[in-house]
Amino acid sequence: MANASLPLSAQDAERLRRFERERHDTLAATYHDFFTPITALAIQPLLDAAGVGAGSNLLDIATGPGSVAARARRLGAACTGVDLSQGMIALARVSHPDIDFRIAEVEHLPFADRSFDVVVCNFGLGHFPWPEAAVAECARTLKVGGRVAFSWWDQPDKQRVQGLFREAVAEVGAALPPDVPAGHSNLRFCDATEFRKLLVGAGLDDVRVDDHRASYTIADVDTLWRGGLGSFAVTASAIVHQDAATQAAIRASLERRAAVYRTPAGLVLPVAFRIGSGQRSDQ
Ligand SMILES: C[S@@+](CC[C@H](N)C(=O)[O-])C[C@H]1O[C@@H](n2cnc3c(N)ncnc32)[C@H](O)[C@@H]1O
Repeated sequence: MANASLPLSAQDAERLRRFERERHDTLAATYHDFFTPITALAIQPLLDAAGVGAGSNLLDIATGPGSVAARARRLGAACTGVDLSQGMIALARVSHPDIDFRIAEVEHLPFADRSFDVVVCNFGLGHFPWPEAAVAECARTLKVGGRVAFSWWDQPDKQRVQGLFREAVAEVGAALPPDVPAGHSNLRFCDATEFRKLLVGAGLDDVRVDDHRASYTIADVDTLWRGGLGSFAVTASAIVHQDAATQAAIRASLERRAAVYRTPAGLVLPVAFRIGSGQRSDQ
């Protein structure tokens, strides 16, 4: 999980897409139970940054269980959601049958140029093999004058839900899962400068990158452990590939690290993310 940012080869990009597809097909239901309420903390700021309102025609990229599209729908927007995982799209369709959800990969969106007033993506960016191409493809589908907005996590020392797991894995020395290309880092856009550079480099105007802070209460370490293993693509895969003794050591480290957040209400974990947005203003 090094903070590398070299472009992946075409072969490695395809390996990452396959990993993401298979992991999210497997995780969909458990992700929805544990992690959707946490990613949902970013929905309103994301929609605000994109300027979504009644009548907006919105595309939600990497929609997962479809919660962003569903919230925008409640605001009166016309929504379409896409994700490369069939399992996620099946879940989104069952949960929100009034929304158009389709299986699609971010770099190959099945929509004409300038189709949408707004394009949003909640916590997808770090999963994409070629983020520059992904942002360019999102901008292609945006009408002139429309806004695109992405959320991504802050650094693991501030975003503690995943941070605790990362530190426990690093302490015990577990390796990355073999099916994730070594050149990929889902930490790249935890850096605000990288995040801004990505949006400016795509030719967007009026680029804004804003910090957001919240917290989320999880009943106990067991809920955290099971929830993380059922939600995180890369980190959980690094853990489940280990033998039982190594998994137990990672869990013990997680428990020790989580103790500082224990309160009578449960583990109150800091949640920190950024929202980056920009406008398409070319003719
Ligand atoms: C962390 S989840 C975010 C889901 C949802 N937006 C939310 O707020 O909970 C990341 C999602 O990105 C999807 N994904 C990963 N790579 C993708 C790609 N190349 N194209 C489209 N979706 C992708 C995964 O299938 C997964 O559903």
